Amino acid sequence: MDGGEDPCGEISENGSSCSISVHSISYTVSERTGPWWDVQSYYKKWTRQILRDVSFYMESGQIMAILGNSGSGKTTLLDAISGRIGHKGTLLGEIYVNGSQLKKEQFKDCFSYVLQHDNLLPYLTVRETLTYTAMLSLQRHSKEAIRKKVSVTV
Ligand SMILES: Nc1ncnc2c1ncn2[C@@H]1O[C@H](COP(=O)(O)OP(=O)(O)OP(=O)(O)O)[C@@H](O)[C@H]1O
Ligand SMILES: [Mg+2]
Repeated sequence: MDGGEDPCGEISENGSSCSISVHSISYTVSERTGPWWDVQSYYKKWTRQILRDVSFYMESGQIMAILGNSGSGKTTLLDAISGRIGHKGTLLGEIYVNGSQLKKEQFKDCFSYVLQHDNLLPYLTVRETLTYTAMLSLQRHSKEAIRKKVSVTV
């Protein structure tokens, strides 16, 4: 797949079916154990594995629920596959859309989700809300492409 292609754009605009395969996602964060003024603990690090080998497969039209206790990593998983995870930790694993592997910089363009504590503007319709959100997150797309994506979603 070339860097310039938009695999997700093509899929959602022509309305054809699409498969997403998430393979062995692991995410580990590492932090210093103490503050900078305590030299001994500052140079020690602890690591914590938040996601370990998470894999799933789904096709368009399917609904999937991710269940787990509070703190089990549901939001971290969604953040990882939608390119929202920072550079703080180490993210491993692969994501395929219709069998093509995505590069990490393509995650953001292909996946979005409604945040746990999302703020909706109460005076916008559903279509207006989706258009407004798409305009913020899909800045490289034309108005027409956004209009099509919103129609497919509605
Ligand atoms: N960047 C990070 N640095 C350190 N710990 C982190 C980081 N990101 C997530 N965590 C920890 O990973 C765990 C998983 O958090 P996450 O928010 O994904 O859980 P969740 O399943 O979405 O929980 P909830 O049901 O409460 O929303 C938590 O213990 C959280 O503190
Ligand atoms: Mg959460």
